[in-house]
Amino acid sequence: MADSDDTHRLIAAARAAAAQAYAPYSGFHVGAALLLDDGSLVTGANVENASYGLTLCAETVAVAKLANMGALAQVRAVAIVGGRPDQDGTLIGGDPVHPCGRCRQMLNEAAERAGVDIAVHCASGDGGAMASYLLSALLPHSFGPKDLGLV
Ligand code: THU
Repeated sequence: MADSDDTHRLIAAARAAAAQAYAPYSGFHVGAALLLDDGSLVTGANVENASYGLTLCAETVAVAKLANMGALAQVRAVAIVGGRPDQDGTLIGGDPVHPCGRCRQMLNEAAERAGVDIAVHCASGDGGAMASYLLSALLPHSFGPKDLGLV
């Protein structure tokens, strides 16, 4: 599990990433930040589409970037921040944003490759609330590379 400094840095990176969201349909901006074993960060933001169902969540974008770096096995933790921007672009919303089901599965792919039950930090848009979990608590009895004999 990341220490407290890492957690705050990770949440700040997720919040900054949310500013890059392309979310003209929902108006809900989400940022995700992955912490790697060398301390570096990989971020993503949600990308919506006029064909609504094609939307890519922030976590999925971040995991796809990580996979393209050949670095899935380096993941150690993730932070997610979401909310609606006010006029200044500051996120509002008091409830922590939890990863959707598909994103839990995407995160599990990296976590199994890493062999680490990664920490998942979920923060509110206004920064006032946070909830932390292990991925195994959010996605129990997961299916992943281990079931195909790949880890
Ligand atoms: N969203 C994410 O980016 N991550 C999640 O885990 C849940 C939902 C995005 C998708 C969509 O652009 C917006 O939030 C509203 O559902």
